[in-house]
Amino acid sequence: MKILVIGGGGREHAIVRRLHLDSPAPELHAAPGNPGIAELAACHAVAVDDLDGLTALARDLAADLVVIGPEAPLVAGLGDRLREAGITVFGPSAEAARLEGSKTWAKEIMEAAGVPTALSVTVTDPALLDAGLDRVNPLGDVPFVVKADGLASGKGVVVTGDREAALAHGRTCLAAGGSVVLEEYLDGPEVSLFCVSDGTAVVPLAPAQDFKRALDGDEGPNTGGMGAYSPLPWAPADLVDEVVRTVARPTIDELARRGTPFVGILYCGLALTARGVRVVEFNARFGDPETQVVLERLASPLSPLLLAASEGRLAAQDAPRWHDEAAVAVVVAAAGYPAAPRTGDPITGLDAAQADGAHVIHAGTAIDDEGRLVSAGGRVLAVVGTGPDLASARAQALAGADAVALEGSHHRRDIAEAASEHAPALLAPPVDDATPSRAESAAPDTAADQGDPTQEATA
Ligand code: AMP
Ligand code: GLY
Repeated sequence: MKILVIGGGGREHAIVRRLHLDSPAPELHAAPGNPGIAELAACHAVAVDDLDGLTALARDLAADLVVIGPEAPLVAGLGDRLREAGITVFGPSAEAARLEGSKTWAKEIMEAAGVPTALSVTVTDPALLDAGLDRVNPLGDVPFVVKADGLASGKGVVVTGDREAALAHGRTCLAAGGSVVLEEYLDGPEVSLFCVSDGTAVVPLAPAQDFKRALDGDEGPNTGGMGAYSPLPWAPADLVDEVVRTVARPTIDELARRGTPFVGILYCGLALTARGVRVVEFNARFGDPETQVVLERLASPLSPLLLAASEGRLAAQDAPRWHDEAAVAVVVAAAGYPAAPRTGDPITGLDAAQADGAHVIHAGTAIDDEGRLVSAGGRVLAVVGTGPDLASARAQALAGADAVALEGSHHRRDIAEAASEHAPALLAPPVDDATPSRAESAAPDTAADQGDPTQEATA
């Protein structure tokens, strides 16, 4: 099978890495890819916004499947273009990708589908910002949440106790020509759950937690994500079932009902509040850096799952199986990230970073004219550690991140720290002799449900 992966970040490197392990291994291509992806796939220098070029490439390669990684080409309609050309695609249509491209539309869908989310108002006139904040945060006793309505790479959101700062962000977003979504503050731990869908069936993957803020202790500005881990030893045993039942399935059903079936990954960004699960955001694709840990734990092959979803036969597909190992990803970011990342700095130390069993996922890297590996983006790479528990996976990832030499770079030191202290021995004994080095089970995810392999596709 020939698979073309669109994108050139850490998520796409993680997807390619996992596809490469499938047996038989698919023939892998990427556009544009990156130096890490190039070790596993043929990279083609076609940019993710070149819809004509990507469609021609998929046709020339006679790709059996195209997997679209980033949100921008999905929202721009790459999925539609490829399908019109008769190509099998994993990734939603532009219309369905509006779940990510328009926070206002996503709220509309959630309301119609009865999906629990934060109370919100959309504002287009700066004069109404003040009243809008009062509406969603009447007592002003919790942080204000102000979101640019369109795509912003995770950086268009400001959560602040400072009303003036909230108003200022709102005015900036409106001045840039968009609308602004003001939201009720959701308190509680966040969870990212990716659900595979073919437009009808819903298959959850293992939940992960992402760390959105730039600095330790959840300080600093929002970023695309500074690290992630899976599984979640602290999460309720029925979390995945509940999210599928109350969030993913009603959303997929509502989109199908509207004639815009969602084929791809419905990324459910959730807050587990005292009042229950609430949707913080939907994305229309795999998350980054959560994919780096979720796919690391996937024990069953990835390509048949993605192909089944793309061909509308997900309900008949075996449920994914999971390694019982934990995985932790620590993102190494460039100097100045997220405000003004510096690029072009040489990166060394990758062999040392991987000496202990961790592996490096490339995100913003490039090869310069002198053949050196250099930084080429804000989130430069992620070091992924694995181990029998979160503590050991975390130690491996951190040691690897410490070994990366990139001038001015920074990474968080507290990824998965609290979770690893919560349940030091969270893993069940190996259950499958076929993979002696890595235990696996059919149960997704939380420590509590490991050993209870009942999770099925909920067609
Ligand atoms: P989003 O791009 O909507 O996922 O927002 C980015 C991050 O901002 C989220 O992962 C949360 O950490 C934070 N955030 C967004 N919406 C809210 C909310 N309503 N309450 C609290 N934090 C939020
Ligand atoms: N890690 C957050 C995202 O992928 O949107």
